[in-house]
Amino acid sequence: MEDLFQIDNINDKVDDLNLLSDRKVYKTVAYSTTSGGAVSGKKMMQAVVNLVVSATLSILQFLSDVWQIHIALPRDGLVPEAGLIVNKLLFQLFGKDKFKKLEYLCQFYHKFGLFKYEGKIYIFDEHLAQTVINKLDKVTDNYADDTPLKDSFLSSSEAMPDSDRVIESIFRKTSIYGRSSLVIRDLDILCKNILEMNESEPINFTKLSLRLALDMAGHVLLELDLGGQEGRQDRLLETMMTILHRCYALEEISSKSKEFAKAVDELDNLTSQILTDAVNTDDNNVKARRLVSQLYDACGYDKAKDNMKVFLMAGTESTASVLPIMFYLLAKYPQVQKELQTEAEQNVDNIRKDPNLPLPKIDSVIKEVLRLYPIVPFIRRQNERPVTIGNFKLKERSEIMVFLWGMHRSPYTWNRSTNFVPFRFYKNLSRKDSSNLYIPFGDGSRMCIAQHLARLEIRLTMAVLLNAFDFRLVKETQDLQFVVDWTHSVIHPDRDMFFRVVPRAMPANA
Ligand code: HEM
Repeated sequence: MEDLFQIDNINDKVDDLNLLSDRKVYKTVAYSTTSGGAVSGKKMMQAVVNLVVSATLSILQFLSDVWQIHIALPRDGLVPEAGLIVNKLLFQLFGKDKFKKLEYLCQFYHKFGLFKYEGKIYIFDEHLAQTVINKLDKVTDNYADDTPLKDSFLSSSEAMPDSDRVIESIFRKTSIYGRSSLVIRDLDILCKNILEMNESEPINFTKLSLRLALDMAGHVLLELDLGGQEGRQDRLLETMMTILHRCYALEEISSKSKEFAKAVDELDNLTSQILTDAVNTDDNNVKARRLVSQLYDACGYDKAKDNMKVFLMAGTESTASVLPIMFYLLAKYPQVQKELQTEAEQNVDNIRKDPNLPLPKIDSVIKEVLRLYPIVPFIRRQNERPVTIGNFKLKERSEIMVFLWGMHRSPYTWNRSTNFVPFRFYKNLSRKDSSNLYIPFGDGSRMCIAQHLARLEIRLTMAVLLNAFDFRLVKETQDLQFVVDWTHSVIHPDRDMFFRVVPRAMPANA
């Protein structure tokens, strides 16, 4: 009971801080001062314009609801679409930030549960989304032609029984959890590496997370020791980041550029090398047991290499995006960090033996972070034939996006929807009891194949690192801002995350 009281207290305190920082942002937008301290007239003007724009949008929203619901919709069930005026007003509010516009449009069209924007249909209503996920297939035919992931099973809807069987067995929960000691070993190496660093210098946690995630994916999925944490695969990581981050997310280089082509070639050479070394081992016992060899036997060299690329790239960038977000929030809210440290301290020895052991506070924070920042913010579906979803008729080959980001952050479904409420799920961790609108790993037949791996990696990393270290913000730590990779449907923090990481004084009885 006392625990629950304390948890509610922390939720409220963090919420107050959320409000304060919202206000600070608002003040910065509305009244930020010049270096001399005088209120900038231009910024004040901007704030007034934004208020007028927001009010106009609210009126338009009301008129649109009345028109579409009472007049237009019953007749033809057309998907509502932002017209010229709404688009202009959105530009005034959000500039070129398409992601913020989409989030706003979820509220604008919340009565409809979907809308059309730039030719694509975004669905955020729970029932419409479930229907789409269950009824329609994943987009495969126009899956970005230039991505190196296009030849993998990721972009295929064909059944390939032999390789499907091996891939399924690699990702099965029992197989993943059976290899949890490999994850723990990687985390111990990370702790040792951090301890060898200069404690007073900020560390680049994104870089460490990338190396760690590569090693964990290599060990658990392929039984390969890639030596990421020893720095042996920094070239591989760089090529991945050139492709995923610099090209698709930041759009610093084009997918037609020489630099991109060079990175794709290098990625191919490096993965070829890894696969060749792995399957050519002299030790037949090792070879027979290795998952990467099973993949090779089932799919042949080229397909095994393409699937390996998916495992390594998806495995590395997803985990390396989530971990910096998690630790940023814990560094920002030290009281929450402290609560989780106590839980980690009490359970870390046992979790090493049983990775399934409940960690209610850590699990609650993980669940909340994946609600607030679903790193796969939308999933694509396609329809070969015209289809009716709810009251809406969609033409064949519509581009349909189930917009998880909008669903997870809807103020119509969640209290304090865009705030970090760390223990929101503390009393209610089981999926059955929570809203169906919560689907960070997707749903249906194309749900994230690696959800067990991702959950295992994140919770073990939290338990081991929080038991060993304090994470603190430093002046180099940037606020959380995201960039969107629209092709692969992932978001990343826009730059590397730095923290000061200080070894914790162990409790007297440790
Ligand atoms: C917190 C971490 C992760 C989140 C939130 C996440 C989320 C998702 C989501 C929502 C989908 C569904 C896409 C769809 O329905 O079209 C997906 C698919 C997928 N994910 Fe993850 N993922 C994570 C980690 C990983 C990791 C570690 C891997 C490592 C291999 C991975 C590999 C994949 C693959 C291969 C697919 C495609 C499955 C298919 O097409 O059948 N994911 N992920």
